[in-house]
Parts: sequence; C-alpha cells; structure tokens
Amino acid sequence: MIEINKKEIDAKVREGIPFQHRWHNRFHLEMPFGLINDPNGLAFHNGEYHIFYQWNPLGCVHKNKSWGHVHTRDFVNYSMPELAMWPTDEHDKDGCYSGCGFVDNDTLRVFYTCNAKDENGVRTPAQRLGTLRSDGTIRKEEIAVPTNEKGYTGHFRDPYVFYRRGKRYFVLGAQTEDERGCVLVYEEESEGKWRFLGELKTKMTEVDEKFGYMWECPGLLKFGTHDVLLCCPQGLEAREYKYQNLYQSGYFAGHVSLDSMEMYHGRFQELDKGFDFYAPQVFNHEGRHILIGWMGMPDRDADYPTGEQGWMYSLTMPRVLTLRQGHIYSHPAKELRALRIQETAMDIDASETKQITAELGEGAEVLLDITLGAAQELDFELIYGLEKLVFHYDRRTQLMTIDRDGMKLGGRGKRQFKLYAEENFSFHLFVDRTAIEAFFQHGDETATLFVFPEKNILPELRLISDKPMESVTGRVWELDSFRFF
Ligand code: FRU
Repeated sequence: MIEINKKEIDAKVREGIPFQHRWHNRFHLEMPFGLINDPNGLAFHNGEYHIFYQWNPLGCVHKNKSWGHVHTRDFVNYSMPELAMWPTDEHDKDGCYSGCGFVDNDTLRVFYTCNAKDENGVRTPAQRLGTLRSDGTIRKEEIAVPTNEKGYTGHFRDPYVFYRRGKRYFVLGAQTEDERGCVLVYEEESEGKWRFLGELKTKMTEVDEKFGYMWECPGLLKFGTHDVLLCCPQGLEAREYKYQNLYQSGYFAGHVSLDSMEMYHGRFQELDKGFDFYAPQVFNHEGRHILIGWMGMPDRDADYPTGEQGWMYSLTMPRVLTLRQGHIYSHPAKELRALRIQETAMDIDASETKQITAELGEGAEVLLDITLGAAQELDFELIYGLEKLVFHYDRRTQLMTIDRDGMKLGGRGKRQFKLYAEENFSFHLFVDRTAIEAFFQHGDETATLFVFPEKNILPELRLISDKPMESVTGRVWELDSFRFF
C-alpha cells in the first residue's frame, strides 16, 4: 500500500485548475492528473449535490483506487476537487472501490467496497460504511458484510442503497462460482445489522440463463410503480445493433418482489450507445432521477491518449431520466442551460435545405429539429480540419451509425443502433473539447464519446442530407466552462 498524502494531492489539484491542455474538457468533470472512473456516492445533502468518483491520484493506471469529491448547488459551480478517502488499512489496501451515498440523520454516509487481495490475487471484498466529515474526508466505519457469500466469487462489490417498505436495503454486483453475473440483495434488520436475502432472480427474456460473467455497479430505482434494475454486465457478445462496447451498462424495467426475490422485467436495454460510457450511478432528488456516468471503458486504456499527458477520463454531464412504456429517456439536467453564453447563428441553405453548417467555439450546444420531407439520409459531421466524426442516419433502415474512423488519435471504429424516426428528427449535441454527448429523438437514445483532434482546430458542424429536408430549426450556443471555487 502506497502512502497517499491528502494535503499534497489537494494542493496539486489546486495548481492544476484551471486546466491548461487543449484536450481538457470545460464542462465535464475531470482531474488535472491521475485516472478517474466510476461516479460514486451521489447524494443531495445540506443544499448541495455531492459527487464522489473513483480516482487514482498517483498515475494513469487502474491502481490505488481512492475517492475524489466535489460538491455543487447547480452543476455549474463546483467546489475544488479534493481527496476524500484512500486505502489505509488491511481491508481496503488494494482499493476503496465503488459505492453509493445516502443521507442518514443529517449526515452524508457512504457505503463502499474494500478491496484486499492476498499474495495469490485472491480477493476478500468487504462492504463498509463511512461518514463524510466536515473537513472533507470520509471516516471509515463499520463493516456491514465482511466477505463474499458462499457460492459467489471475490467479484462481489459496488453496494447501492435503496428503500422499500420503510426499510433500508442494498444491492450488490456479484459473480456466482460458475461465473454468472448477478445482483444480490441485503436488508437492514436493525441499525447497522444487515441480512443477506439472496440473489435477485431475473427472469431472462434473453438467450439463456447466463447473461455475462459479472454484473458491476448495480442500482435499483423506482419510477412510479415500476422498478428499474441498473447493472453493468461484463462478457456479453456483441450483436448487430447492440452490446458493441467491451462492457455494457443498462437496465431491466419491470417489477421486483422482495418477498420472492424475483424480478419480472422486459429485455435488457443499454443506457447509452456511444463508445465511452460505463458504470453510471443514479440518485433521486426531489423526484428527479439524476444520472452521472463514467466517460471511459475498463480495459481499453490504449484508446485514450491523454494518459501520456498525465490524466485520464471524465464524468458525463448530469442527466435526468424518465421512464415511459418500459424505456428510459435521458435529458441533460436543466441547470446546464446556465452554461449558455450566447446564441450563435446557423447557416441554413434555404433554397434547397440540403446543407447546414455552424462554426462551433470551444464548447457548444446544438439543437436541431428537422422535418425530414424527402430526406432519407442525414450526415451530421463534426469536422476538425482533415479529421471528422460522423453521425449517419438512414431513415429506410432506421439505423444510426457513429463513425470515428475519420479521427487519427484515440479509439476509432463504429457503433450502430436502431433509432426510430418517422417525419421528424431531433438531435441535441454537446461538444466539449474532447467529450461529446448526443441526445437523439428527445432522449430516446444517447451516445457519449471522446474524440482527440490531432490539431488545435475548433470544429465545424455540418449537416448534409441526400434530398431536401422540409424544414430545419437550429440553435447553437457557445457554452461557458464549469467554475471551481
Ligand atoms: C467498474 C469497477 C467497479 C469497481 C471499480 C474499481 O468500473 O470495476 O466494479 O468497484 O470499478 O475502480
């Protein structure tokens, strides 16, 4: 276990912000150094949103997992990031892994997985509680579950607290001894005493009983009378229009019975169809389900060239989720509208309406509402000099293709998914320096991804259709950056 010095790290963060490098994003949370991954401990407490995240402050490798922390009232002004928790004892010597946050008796508590490995690499995962102190550090408290249950391997992590029937429960991501991914449930019997209820039986509508070899980062949400189980299955085979990332993040919508420990649900749906999205966490505040995801992917570090500059990965912007007919729609949190500095013009070729262009600044939001008319194919291109990222929509096949092969650096390739459009097409795009978030058809689908333009060139957005579109309403805003206080 390496000695981690909070004072030094916090001071180094303060020196590193505002960011210098042109690949650093302006309205996506990231660190000036080290590697971040999953959002953790999301909660609203004392008038502020708290966002923790996995962070190795010592380098761009998946080691020394600690928790970083920021808080914000409005998702635009943030406290200076600080180290909140790091490996200190025999339980979490190999990492303070992911977990959740919840408010209890006016304190902000966290629940995380302590990762400890022996000399043969065998894990002893313990689930432990903690409390945020006023000095910004987390006091590590009681261990609720000391190790993995019988029948499950050491891949046993990421507790997420939820409430039902006036009681507190948590779900945990796990792997059975025969290497099947699943979710386990615990119930709080009395203050601080947790009882193992068993595995939540998901009645698969998919191919077979086994749906991946491990489920990471589960969550259980309630939308009205419906339950939504979030999870990140690892080991799904890529299909024609789905599961195209190395690991997936998605959900089952349906109904959970904690008496029979069963969930009746529809098919597994992905939460995002981009390249760089994993381990999202969702928390509820005043009726809003707010999601923040990790912009990155485990085991694909080579796709992210910022490692050479000393930092890796970002978090997504906060999104608000709604459930309609068993499907989740995502919208950027309305607070982000405060980033809009000014509206800039779009050049719409009115005679034929086949091409639209807009010069984007250092940060941009674009909202396009298109009445398709005769158009069958649309290309939304983000052009960086000789490089480009393309979103191609084919109305006949109802397919969206995101193509990064026109970029030189970083991850490349294509992602393809079904997207339904009849007469109208809506495209809502956020373009940060390297982080891009797209919302299609009013949040029906989203795609989160990075591009790393080789040259220092601001992008131009170009929309081209094969035949004239009937009408296009377009708005473009220049966006301000997050501020740290
Ligand atoms: C998901 C994950 C979690 C784990 C954490 C460690 O990205 O593997 O399952 O708790 O990252 O950083």
